[in-house]
Amino acid sequence: MKQTPWLGFAIDRGADMPVFEQICAAIRLRAASGELALGSKLPPTRVFATELGVSRSTIVTAYEQLVAEGYLSSQQGSGYRLCASGDVELTQVQNLAAPATPSPPVPASPRLGVQPNSSAVRPFRAGTPDMRLFPYRQWAKTVARICRSDPQSMFLGGSGFGSFALRQSICDHVAEWRGISARPEQVIVTAGATDALEICLHALAEAGDGVALEDPGYRPLQAFITAQGLVPDYLRVDDSGAVLPSGPGAPRLAILTPSHQFPLGGAMSPARRMEFIQWASETEAWIIEDDYDSEFRYAGRPIPAMAGFDQLHRTLYVGSFSKIFSNALRLGYLILPEPLVGRFSNSIQRFAPKASSMPQQPLADFIDKGEFYRHLRRVRRIYAERRRFLLDHLAQDFSAYGYCVDHQAGMQVVFHLTCDLQDREICARARDLGLSIEALSEFVQAPKPEGTAYNGLLLGFCGYSAPELEEGLGLLLQVLQRLSR
Ligand SMILES: Cc1ncc(COP(=O)(O)O)c(C=O)c1O
Repeated sequence: MKQTPWLGFAIDRGADMPVFEQICAAIRLRAASGELALGSKLPPTRVFATELGVSRSTIVTAYEQLVAEGYLSSQQGSGYRLCASGDVELTQVQNLAAPATPSPPVPASPRLGVQPNSSAVRPFRAGTPDMRLFPYRQWAKTVARICRSDPQSMFLGGSGFGSFALRQSICDHVAEWRGISARPEQVIVTAGATDALEICLHALAEAGDGVALEDPGYRPLQAFITAQGLVPDYLRVDDSGAVLPSGPGAPRLAILTPSHQFPLGGAMSPARRMEFIQWASETEAWIIEDDYDSEFRYAGRPIPAMAGFDQLHRTLYVGSFSKIFSNALRLGYLILPEPLVGRFSNSIQRFAPKASSMPQQPLADFIDKGEFYRHLRRVRRIYAERRRFLLDHLAQDFSAYGYCVDHQAGMQVVFHLTCDLQDREICARARDLGLSIEALSEFVQAPKPEGTAYNGLLLGFCGYSAPELEEGLGLLLQVLQRLSR
């Protein structure tokens, strides 16, 4: 254990709380107690790192977290200063963390005399990034630069396909990360992945057509398909991923999440991918690859996209910026096989593009200047720590109730229940305590054979720090214990 003379606290390497969170907690505590006066300068990152015996990036992560929470301000060349000490910054955190939901009542922290950060959040909302980690400063700089140097570029719609610069940046991104080779002319910038999926359905299917989709699967998609008069063909999911369509009538389309099945989490096996590609070639069907959160893999190499494998022959590729940045940005993309470009161009004119044009040029700049990847690397590291924290606690304290399969990816885990409790009842009771948990059985459409029904809890971890997760787990355990009595 190494102690710092500056803060007078020690890093506990055996603790469950990640090191950077321990540093954040110590600074928050000293800010709240007045020990650290407003305006005081924090030690330079390099010096503090040496004092504590941690890497400099750990200190930068802690400081940046506190900047995002409103405790610290930072100025180029003059380091970090304390700019808030108590209630103010907590309000900011609450606003950032949970804009849409009221905060649950949480007991005041005896040490800080203010409510802990966790009062603002409702673990375990799935698929939500932590907006406290959003690179506000860098984003503001990028937007300001474009406003000064090239304001007109923010109003160009690329005849419905979106900013050409962003489409070029997307091509570079998917070439490097997903093994997909495409030209900007094949890319449509969309209002998120959901919009991309809707665009595909408008362009490729008509009322009465069959559409194959995974079951369990993404609910808004299931709802949209029925609302459009399309006929869903629900595909069972086994250990290799979704199974091939076998029902009566050939579906025109199959919508799949091969890199990370939603919501179960596994990756589709290479053999199953090949079978799907072959099926699509033989039946002249299209595969739509929904790669909504592929950037979040925590071990090993990224799993190459099916569209790269298929060389965009029968596969359309859907990606999203919602998970890396924010659902609120509402930007995603669709990459088309060359022969479909004309058809989609006509369809886009009929249904009008929904993606906002203003953030597109700044986002292209953000990607090209490397800020996007810096942010991605940073959040991935933090999410990996949170994920580990959650999985370890589930294994340690919840094994009497169920288990998780570790897929080393994504923004949520599924806790499969092995006890007699029903997921929907647990979620309802958890909601009463201010938690936000979704029941796995809610994602299922077609009845399943006896003994194979899905019964589990979807636990998102990205939006919550270790103390917030810990508090949420404590409440969840109470729910399970009470229901088991
Ligand atoms: C499987 C799947 N597809 C698409 C989306 C939607 O992404 P977007 O927010 O970009 O519309 C989600 C969101 O959670 C998802 O889980």
